[in-house]
Amino acid sequence: MNKKIILADKSGFCFGVKRAVDITVDQKKSADAKLYTLGPLIHNNDVIHRLKEKGIDQIDEDDLETLEPKDTIIIRSHGVTLNVIGNIEKSGSKMVNATCPFVTKIQKIAEKYHDLGYQIIIVGDENHPEVVGINGWCNNSAIITKDGSNLSDLPAKVCVVAQTTERLFNFEKVVDIVSKKCEEVLTFNTICSATKERQESADEVSKQVDLMIVIGGKHSSNSKKLFDICRTNCENTIFIENSLELPTEAFDKEDVKTIGITAGASTPDWIIQDVIEKIK
Ligand code: F3S
Repeated sequence: MNKKIILADKSGFCFGVKRAVDITVDQKKSADAKLYTLGPLIHNNDVIHRLKEKGIDQIDEDDLETLEPKDTIIIRSHGVTLNVIGNIEKSGSKMVNATCPFVTKIQKIAEKYHDLGYQIIIVGDENHPEVVGINGWCNNSAIITKDGSNLSDLPAKVCVVAQTTERLFNFEKVVDIVSKKCEEVLTFNTICSATKERQESADEVSKQVDLMIVIGGKHSSNSKKLFDICRTNCENTIFIENSLELPTEAFDKEDVKTIGITAGASTPDWIIQDVIEKIK
């Protein structure tokens, strides 16, 4: 094949997701009892399938009372509310907290400044598990906003944090709005650089290629965002979950000389390598 493949240098598992998967696999080696993840460990069906094959199942928050004291439960990288932690503790089972340390930091900020009388404002998506979890560290009292349009009647003291995958533009917009409305404003830019780096790297590669491939889980919002960015630069962009979804006819075209590849933060290396091998 005389086609050139360019892999975005920042692609695939981020630090927090890799850490959560490693912790889970390690736990399985040492745990002889049942091992659960609280919800899907990451947004990637292939990884979830592999974990299931190793005997690692999922459990929902609503089913925590079914846990046995000998069971082990893993908290995924998005983190959870204080309430959920309390419910796990009540069950008596072993809890292994694989919350990404960058998310833990936001939870601690929310807890601390809520206790000090600040209104917590989270810039992010109200339904995202990470945001739901952070809100649970300030007694579910946070105001959640995407762009500041729902912010009115604010108290004098506010503390603004961001979902780790939020766009800087939205965070700055909210900070600007609250700075004009409130007397005392504390701001913590808690956006994780892994997202930005992946987006910049995908942007750069997709400008140079005839066909761009984005690998990611169908429910992964950061992978969908990568797709949108690449599509702006390269109309010939496809979104796949794994090598089985590669449309082989896409490579046969004469005018496809250079192929770019990127992958969302929940895509493991073995899936990326598998796609590259299949193209070759
Ligand atoms: Fe953590 Fe950033 Fe990944 S917050 S889970 S390293 S995107």
